[in-house]
Amino acid sequence: MAKLIVHGGHRLEGAVRAGGRKNSAVAVIPAALLCDGPSSLENLPAIDDVGVYSQLLEALGARLQPRPERNGGLTLTIDPRGVRRTVADHDLGKRLRASYYLLGVLLARFGEAEVPLPGGCDIGLRPIDQHLKGLSALGAQVRIEHGAIRARATRLEGTTIYLDVISVGATIQLMLAATLAAGVTIIENAAREPHVVDLANFLNAAGARVQGAGTDVIKIRGVSRLSGATHAIIPDEIEAATYMIAAAATRGDVVVENVIPKHLDPVTAKLQEAGVTVEENGDYVRVRADRRPRAVHVKTLPYPGFPTDAQQPFTVLLSLAEGTSIVTETVWEGRFRHVEELKRMGTLIRVEGRTAIVEGVERLTGAAVRASDLRARAALMVAGLAAEGTTEISGIEHIDRGYERAVDKLRGLGARLVREGNGRGAREAAGH
Ligand code: EPZ
Repeated sequence: MAKLIVHGGHRLEGAVRAGGRKNSAVAVIPAALLCDGPSSLENLPAIDDVGVYSQLLEALGARLQPRPERNGGLTLTIDPRGVRRTVADHDLGKRLRASYYLLGVLLARFGEAEVPLPGGCDIGLRPIDQHLKGLSALGAQVRIEHGAIRARATRLEGTTIYLDVISVGATIQLMLAATLAAGVTIIENAAREPHVVDLANFLNAAGARVQGAGTDVIKIRGVSRLSGATHAIIPDEIEAATYMIAAAATRGDVVVENVIPKHLDPVTAKLQEAGVTVEENGDYVRVRADRRPRAVHVKTLPYPGFPTDAQQPFTVLLSLAEGTSIVTETVWEGRFRHVEELKRMGTLIRVEGRTAIVEGVERLTGAAVRASDLRARAALMVAGLAAEGTTEISGIEHIDRGYERAVDKLRGLGARLVREGNGRGAREAAGH
C-alpha cells in the first residue's frame, strides 16, 4: 500500500506548471477514433488516466505513439485506421469511468459498441441515465446486461435532446455520437465547462461542425467523415486550483504557470474574498498569503460556478479560516466523506447532508489519514502541507490518476514529502 509522508509547516514558494486538463484528455483521446486518419494530441498530462485510455485504444486496434514533451507533458499520436473491435476491454474500462465515452464514439463510427458499466464512485452514485436517454433519442438501441452497456444503431439520426440535469459527461457523450449522425443534433441544457469547448475545437479541427460549445445550447451538424487533427488540449484548472489553494494554506508565494486565468475565475474570486492575494497575468497566476484566510461561503455549481473538483481542497483552507464558513456541495452527495479523516488533524467541520459547516481553527496537526477519492487525496495533501508535524496519507496510489507528478511538483515548491510503498508512478503508466 503506497503512502505519502508529509512534513508540514513549510511555506510553498516558487513556480509550478499546470499540466493538460485530465477531464479534457479523457474526452479528446477517444474522440480521435471518430476520425479515419491519424491525430496528434499535445499537452496531455502524464497521468495514469491517459495511460489507461491509451491501452484501451490499443486494445481496440488503434496504433498509438506517445512522445514525452520537454515541459513534462505528453504528445500522443493516435492512428485509428486499425480499429476493428467495438467491445472495450472490461478490465481496463472499469479502471476509468470516462471509458464510457467510447460508447458514443464506437456507435457513431461502427454502429455498435460495448463498454463496461461505470461503477459507483467514492463521491456518489454517478448515474448515466442522461447519456442513455440521449443515445436512444439519436436512434440507438441501448441495453445494460452482464455489467456492460451494449448499443447498436444502423445510422444515428440527429435530433433535439434536452438534458434533465447539466451533465458534463452526457454533453460530451452526445457531442461525440452526433458528429457523424445524419442531420442536425441540438443539445439543450448542455454543460458549459471549458473542456466541452476544448473537445468541440478538436472535433471542428478534424472536420466536424459543432457550434455553441460553451453555451447551454450546442448544435452539431452531422458530417460523413472526420480527417484527424493536431490539437493541444487546455491546461488543468483543477490541478492549478489545488496548487493555488496549497499556496494560500501554507501562507506561501506561488506562481502557477500554463493556465488560462479565465477558467480559474470562480476559484480566484473565492480566494480573493477570503483575503488571499491572486494576481493574473497572461498565462500564469501568482498566489500569496501571509495570514489566516477569512471565512467565506461556497456553493459548488456547474461552470462557471465554483468547481466541485476544487471543493475538497478549498474546504481544507476554510478549516484554517478566521470565522465559520458554509460549504454546499450541489453536484456530488459523497464529497464530504473524507471529513472524518480531516477531523483527526484538528478540523472542526460538521456535515449535514450536502452542507458542511466549517468552524475555522488556528492550526492543524499531522496525523495518519486515509484518502478515498482522487480529490480527497489532494485535500489531505493540502492539509498535511499546512499542518504542524507529520501526516501519513495512505491510499495515495491514485493521486497519479489525476495529478501529474504531484510529489515532484510540490517538492519543487519547497514541500517536504516522500512517497513510500509501491504506488505506480504516472510516468510508467503513460509510457505503458
Ligand atoms: C465530470 O463528471 C468530471 N469527470 C468530474 O470530475 C466532475 O466532478 C463533474 O464532471 C462535474 O464537473 C470527468 O470529466 C471524467 P456530470 P461527470 O455528468 O461527467 C448528475 C474528477 O475528480 N447526472 O457533469 O460524471 C450527476 O449525478 C471528476 O476529475 C445525472 O443525474 O459529471 C451529478 O449530480 C469527479 N445523470 C451531475 O449530474 C447523468 O446521466 C453532474 O454530473 C449524468 C449526470
